[in-house]
Amino acid sequence: MKRLIGGSIVLLLAGLGTATLSSAPTRATVVTNSDADAIGTTETAAPNNAFSQQTGPFFKDFGTLGRFGCEECHVERLGWSVTATAASGLPASDPLFVFDGSDCLPPGVPNTSASNSIEMRNFGNTRIELGIPQGADFGLAGSSDPFACPTAPTASNLRMYRRPLPVANASFIANVMWDGREEVTPTIFGDLKHQANTAELIHAQATSSISDADQTSIASFQTNLFAAQVKIGNLKLDARGGNGGAVFLMTAVAPAFSLGMNDPSKPGFNPAVFTIYQSWEPGRTPSNAQAAAIGRGEVVFNTKLIRIASVPGLNGPHDASTAPISGFCGSCHNTPNVGSHSTSLFVDIGVTSPSPTLGNLDVGHLPIYWFMETTTGNTTVVTDPGRGLVTGKFIDIGKTKVPGLRNLAARPPYFHNGSAPDLTTVVDYHDRRFSIGFSAQEKSDLVAFLQAL
Ligand code: HEC
Ligand code: HEC
Repeated sequence: MKRLIGGSIVLLLAGLGTATLSSAPTRATVVTNSDADAIGTTETAAPNNAFSQQTGPFFKDFGTLGRFGCEECHVERLGWSVTATAASGLPASDPLFVFDGSDCLPPGVPNTSASNSIEMRNFGNTRIELGIPQGADFGLAGSSDPFACPTAPTASNLRMYRRPLPVANASFIANVMWDGREEVTPTIFGDLKHQANTAELIHAQATSSISDADQTSIASFQTNLFAAQVKIGNLKLDARGGNGGAVFLMTAVAPAFSLGMNDPSKPGFNPAVFTIYQSWEPGRTPSNAQAAAIGRGEVVFNTKLIRIASVPGLNGPHDASTAPISGFCGSCHNTPNVGSHSTSLFVDIGVTSPSPTLGNLDVGHLPIYWFMETTTGNTTVVTDPGRGLVTGKFIDIGKTKVPGLRNLAARPPYFHNGSAPDLTTVVDYHDRRFSIGFSAQEKSDLVAFLQAL
């Protein structure tokens, strides 16, 4: 209950003029809360005020680590994730740094030194421990652990360090977790319920499962939360014809969403994924220079041709076709006005490589794992096997999901391992990986646009 501090709560009564609470996004009653972030203001909207009151099982401690519920790592003002900047300001004794908030410590051991939490303090990363599943077609061939943890990684216990994905905007996701390991029921809502229980058992070290009612409450809390940047400096992103901010996301984008609605493998795919800043696009001459840059950036996102080649999951060595795809940012980030992949997809764009030589990503602090395919003797090397530990397939090693792009400014650093400190680094990495050849102007416009999401 301690972390949701500051900010301002606004109750918008639009339309019906009644305070009836509904679980479906509706214009009837929208409660928003806003907080300062590095470049302006982030906003969360919900059709009820559960998040602002900080009640409900999401905020409750079911565990044994003395944590502040799910909010320990999913903080509203930090984009419903956690940031390295916020973490580095906390004392070593903070419950964030116990167990998986440390580089090596087991549960139950107090954390007495900042040097035990390099990953959380410098990259906002949580420790995830997973093993190679039974029946996998590959084995562990070697590992290197820069933290020299007291227990060396084994095939049944590999250590990865990953960014907490935001829990807001969960109603748009097609994959739960970076590697999709929580996809164990027929629906995403069911997966979110299952995930909530797993999170209690692991991150909170609860000694027993939480009730079905509490799982439902957490999943419904998350699918009814909408978060987005609402201001850059003094520029309001939901004024002057702009449709930024969490209220538009909740009341206009969410009702139009369905899984698979903009699938690039189907006819009718529209690469113009973002339309929220159409009024600021070139030709519409917005009076504000920042708004004009955001409008230009939206056009770059929607129209810049990208040659997508050698991406495992799309056209890598084990895919049906290895032919390069002439695509756009939206070929991967295609959910309209959200930017996640609108169907389930795991790809490897190189961020799990221990030497992403095509970009200046900071991965030197991560463990390295070598895996060997049993039948062929082929090897591969990654800092995080990603999807491979879920399917047990060699060809899935290094794949991750395509994340959503809203509310980015509130939750640096970026990529699953926090290896990009800012959005310029993210754009630079995509630029080099896909040989896009952005001009300096296109890059800065694209960054201005991404900041405004
Ligand atoms: C110690 C930090 C920590 C705590 C506490 C925590 N999480 Fe997370 N959460 C993470 C990390 C890290 C990931 C990404 C892990 C991965 O993909 O392997 C994540 C991912 C998620 C996702 C997936 C979102 C998506 O887009 O796929 C959901 C949902 C989620 N957490 C909900 C919860 C809930 C509910 C709780 C409380 C029961 C909770 N988390 C507690 C760190 C935490
Ligand atoms: C071939 C698919 C693909 C294309 C094309 C693509 N991306 Fe990505 N993008 C990804 C994947 C996968 C990730 C996550 C990688 C990881 O963290 O391991 C990602 C991550 C990101 C992130 C970081 C999000 C976060 O939460 O950390 C941003 C921002 C982003 N992409 C923007 C863009 C922009 C802008 C373009 C066009 C220039 C683009 N992407 C084109 C697949 C793609």
